[in-house]
Amino acid sequence: MRKIDIFDTTLRDGEQSAGINLNTAEKLEIARQLEKFGATIIEAGFPASSPGDFEAVQRIANTVKNSTVTGLARAMKSDIETSWEALRGAEQPHLHVFLATSPIHMEYKLQKTPDQVVDIAVEAVKYARKYFPLVQWSAEDAFRSDPEFLVRIINQVITAGATTINIPDTVGYATPQEYGALFKYLKENVTGIDKVKLSAHCHNDLGMAVVNSIAAIENGADQVEGTINGIGERAGNAALEEIAVALHIRKDFYGFETGINLKEIKRTSQLVSQLTGVVIQPNKAVVGKNAFAHESGIHQDGYLKNRETYEIITPELIGDKTEPLALGKHSGRHAFKDRAITMGFNLDDEKINKAFVEFKKLADRKKEITEDDLFILFTDQQIEY
Ligand code: KIV
Ligand code: ZN
Repeated sequence: MRKIDIFDTTLRDGEQSAGINLNTAEKLEIARQLEKFGATIIEAGFPASSPGDFEAVQRIANTVKNSTVTGLARAMKSDIETSWEALRGAEQPHLHVFLATSPIHMEYKLQKTPDQVVDIAVEAVKYARKYFPLVQWSAEDAFRSDPEFLVRIINQVITAGATTINIPDTVGYATPQEYGALFKYLKENVTGIDKVKLSAHCHNDLGMAVVNSIAAIENGADQVEGTINGIGERAGNAALEEIAVALHIRKDFYGFETGINLKEIKRTSQLVSQLTGVVIQPNKAVVGKNAFAHESGIHQDGYLKNRETYEIITPELIGDKTEPLALGKHSGRHAFKDRAITMGFNLDDEKINKAFVEFKKLADRKKEITEDDLFILFTDQQIEY
């Protein structure tokens, strides 16, 4: 099975979400958890952006040993030097340097010609390689760049010493077919592409970040980048937990493995949510509160007869210990009786039938029935404990 590296940028692109501001202690706690989660690379921050980010990247680089730690730098000597100071204590110092390549970014943001952009990128990568054994170069807004220009600049940055080439869909504009086709084209046209790592970096503006990342893998990407819970600028980045679980559950179809410790997913997701203050939508795939909750009577009955009737991912797989059968107004007698037994109540059919009528009345008034509600209900019906 082909191994896909997971590049986690929760602490850099993820922290760029509006309203998030993590301090060093919080970043370190998340980085330690990302190490348990099994991220191949952790992008700990952008050292030249602020003294706080510098400090966090340095602490993480000096602490985390089982994941490679990187930091982001603009294609500028001063950013590269600052990043080296922050990252020099890392087990395997890695730098992520980027420069925009799309016509709109080159003309309006950088105000540089394509030739100047090639020179700046080459100089930056050469300079970075004086310090770092591993240098990733990103063509910002690659998806909206001219593919022929991408081939030209990538050829040159590889010759300059880049060890990873990243092709971001910075504004989340790609469709899976187009993004996959771009990877295929680069694989076929860039000299020496097989000697470097090829990386995908997707944003979720059109809700396609995860599927675009997978399309890139199918077309030759060796690494995917994203964040926990999909947090990030605007609509966020590709959600890494979704990619890892999709590739695991459908390995029969895809045949890739990520090395992610799936059992750490729930814990990682909760920690990121708690420390960033970004709540997870209840129906979010894999880590949403309702991702494994069966509420309707028909689903609950099927689930109790054979879990696989309605469950393709088990909560145990991702270390989720919450009760899968949510009790509410759509629930049936089977799930109700089952919960009474697991709560230790001694049942006869007449009592359970009466209690079920009361339960339905309560469920019409209250969205979710908790075990405390059930305890009162069963004791009211004098069902023995
Ligand atoms: O989305 C993007 O282009 C980025 C780069 C800095 C890699 O985050
Ligand atoms: Zn990004």
